[in-house]
Amino acid sequence: MKFKRILGIDIGGSGIKGSPVDIKSGELVEARHRIPTPVPATPESVAVVIKNLVDHFNWNGPVGCGFPAVVQNGIVKTAANIDKSWIGCNAQELFTKTTGLPTLVINDADSAGMAEVKFGAGKKFKGTILLVTVGTGIGSVVFIKGRLLPNTEFGHIYLNSGQDAELFASDAVRKNEGLGWDEWAKRFDEYLLEVERLLWPELIIIGGGVSKKIQKFSEYLTVKAKVVPAKLQNEAGLIGAALAAKVNKDYLMQGYRQ
Ligand code: BGC
Repeated sequence: MKFKRILGIDIGGSGIKGSPVDIKSGELVEARHRIPTPVPATPESVAVVIKNLVDHFNWNGPVGCGFPAVVQNGIVKTAANIDKSWIGCNAQELFTKTTGLPTLVINDADSAGMAEVKFGAGKKFKGTILLVTVGTGIGSVVFIKGRLLPNTEFGHIYLNSGQDAELFASDAVRKNEGLGWDEWAKRFDEYLLEVERLLWPELIIIGGGVSKKIQKFSEYLTVKAKVVPAKLQNEAGLIGAALAAKVNKDYLMQGYRQ
């Protein structure tokens, strides 16, 4: 089995997107395909969508999936924005079985970060990088000298108000509460300041849906770290998921053969 191209999949709260990725260049080999996230998004219904994506691309190679929760050794550990029935589910085993293909599952912010550090806004940056993905939830990933610290959950720190940050400053909250960009940006700045106080990253990369709109809110951000938008924008998650499958190739094939 060749590992030049890997099907990258990004499982999100509203859509599940996939495309074969050229691992060397990080480029999408075919136009991205998006299927709305099923409601309820249970393990069984999401597995069907993963299989549909595999079939759409007529894919017969390895698969990497970014998943919106803490994922350790393929097992989902949390469920902030997904169906609670995921907790304890071995997503990796489930998708491997449903697709019949070797499949890796990791946290979605971790996969987005891998892509940005290799091909995007964090390329060649040697200091501490924090990437924050802002969409339905808030995801985080930390890199120190290019090495990933997996499954950080800085989207769930408590702010001064005692509120979970994600429920205060996500893009979903901006939309649901009808906040103007300025109002939302002040909330997001409060959030970033708190993370900066705890972690002191030197570079903050903003990913997820809002990365395309950074000119609407960057003027309100007062953190000391340099703040830049994700270069790969909304595609970072699926590119990084493919990359992660390549990096973990031995582990992936081992799980597949068992
Ligand atoms: C989850 C994270 C995830 C983020 C973005 C949060 O609610 O806890 O694991 O990375 O949403 O999807």
